[in-house]
Amino acid sequence: MGLCKFVGIVCLLHASLVLHIFSSASLIPEETSQIPVYFLNYAKKSELFDWMVHIRRQIHENPELGFEEFETSKLIRAELDHMGIPYKYPLAVTGVVGFIGTGAPPYVAIRADMDALAMQENIEWEHKSKVPGKMHACGHDAHVAMLLGAAKILQEHSHELKGTVVLVFQPAEEGGGGAKKMLDTKALDKIDAIFGLHVSVNYPIGAVASRAGPVLAANGFFEAVITGKGGHAALPQHTIDPILAVSNVIVSLQHLVSREADPLDSQVVTVAKIQGGGAFNIIPDSVTIGGTFRAFSKESFIQLRQRIEEVITKQASVQRCNATVVFNENDKPFYPVTVNNKDLHEHFQSVAQEMLGSRNVFEIQPGMGAEDFSFYAEVIPGNFFFIGMENETQGKFARGHSPNYKVNEDVLPYGAALHASLATKFLLKYQSESTSLSRGSQDEL
Ligand SMILES: *[C@@H]1O[C@H](CO)[C@@H](O)[C@H](O)[C@H]1NC(C)=O
Ligand SMILES: *[C@@H]1O[C@H](CO)[C@@H](O)[C@H](O)[C@H]1NC(C)=O
Ligand SMILES: [Zn+2]
Ligand SMILES: [Zn+2]
Repeated sequence: MGLCKFVGIVCLLHASLVLHIFSSASLIPEETSQIPVYFLNYAKKSELFDWMVHIRRQIHENPELGFEEFETSKLIRAELDHMGIPYKYPLAVTGVVGFIGTGAPPYVAIRADMDALAMQENIEWEHKSKVPGKMHACGHDAHVAMLLGAAKILQEHSHELKGTVVLVFQPAEEGGGGAKKMLDTKALDKIDAIFGLHVSVNYPIGAVASRAGPVLAANGFFEAVITGKGGHAALPQHTIDPILAVSNVIVSLQHLVSREADPLDSQVVTVAKIQGGGAFNIIPDSVTIGGTFRAFSKESFIQLRQRIEEVITKQASVQRCNATVVFNENDKPFYPVTVNNKDLHEHFQSVAQEMLGSRNVFEIQPGMGAEDFSFYAEVIPGNFFFIGMENETQGKFARGHSPNYKVNEDVLPYGAALHASLATKFLLKYQSESTSLSRGSQDEL
C-alpha cells in the first residue's frame, strides 16, 4: 500500500478497480479444461493487466539486490494485505509466503524471485531504474507482478480451491541461493508440488517451453589468487611472474572439458574474471581469477570442482607461484541440477495446452543456465518452465543480463494465468486421483 500512503487519489482509483474486478467475477467453469482459458481472459482484462503493469514498473524503478529486497517485499506484503491474503514474513531476510484456499492439504506452491542485478540500465524510458548500478535485467520484476496477478485471480476464487495455494516470493536467485534459505526456514515443509517460471526471449508471446527431467545445469563459482613475487618488468629474473602463471592456468582449465569430460556429458568451465597488474613496467605480486563451472550430474560436478582446484594450484606451481582456490559456498552456494518431475511436467503440458494450444507448448533441450529453483525441485516435486515474450513486430528483445534488457509486459497475463491454472488444476487433480507424486527426482540422474 506504499502507493496509497502517498497518493490518495490513486489509492481511491486503485480500490475501485479492485472492487470492479471482484464484483464482476463469475465462478470457475464447471468444465475444468476451460479453467486455463477462463483465467487467461480474466488476467487480460485491463483492470488486472494495468495493475500488474503498474506493480512491475514500480519494482523496476527500485531494483534491489539479493537479500536486500526490502522495499519489494514491502510492496508485495502491502498488496497481499490489500487482498486479504495471510502470509508469513520475514523468511530468509526478505522472503514472503502467502496462503490462499482452505488452509488444509494438499499444498501447491507457485514461486517468484524478487532480486535485481548489479548493473546499469542502458535504456531510456519513463520507468528506468532509479538506482545507479542496479537493474532488473532478468525479468524478476515481471515474475513478482505475475505471481501477484495469480494471487488476485486465486483469491477471487479461493472458496473453490480444493486445498491451499502457497505463494512463494523468494530473495536472491541471482547467485545467492535464496531458495535454499527459504527451504531452511521449514516454511515449505508440507508442500506437495511447486511450479516456477522464467520469462524468455527465445519463444513468442503466448508460448511456453519446458521438459521432463534435467532442464538446467548445476552451477558453482570459484575464485583463485595466484601469488608470485612482483618487481621490475625489465628484470624478470628477480621476480616470480604471476601473470605468466595465470595464463597457463587458464589454458589448462580449458582441458578439463575438452580432454577429461565425456563429450556427450555437457559441461562448462569459464574463467570470467581476471584482475592483476596496473602498469606496463611492473610485474605484480599476485593475480586473481574467478569463474563458473557447470554440469548435468552430481558426479561430473564434483569431479570438476576437484580438478579445478588441482589444476590451478599445480599449474601455478610449475611457474613457482602459490595459489589458493576458494569456492565461497556461503556467499554463492552451488546450485544443483534443475530436474523437472515427470508427472508434474505432464500436468504442466496439459494445462498449458488447454490455455495456449498444443502448437504453443514447446519441448526444450536442457540449457547450461542455472536456477535456484533446483533447490526446491530437489526436495519437492517441481516443474520449471519458460514463458515466451518475443514479439516480432516489436523488434528484437535483448537477452537476460543485458543492460538493454526489456520485459514485454504483454507476457504478464500469461504468467499470472498459468500460475493460477497450474495450482488450481493441481489441487483438483490431486484430490480426485489422490495419487502421491514420486519424490527425490534427482535420482533420475
Ligand atoms: C609459496 O608458499 C611457500 C610455503 O608457504 C613459501 O615458502 C613461498 O615463499 C611461497 N612462494 C610464493 C611465490 O609466494
Ligand atoms: C505484438 O505487438 C503488436 C504491436 O505492439 C501488438 O499489436 C500485438 O498484439 C502483439 N502480439 C501479441 C501476441 O501480444
Ligand atoms: Zn538472471
Ligand atoms: Zn532470472
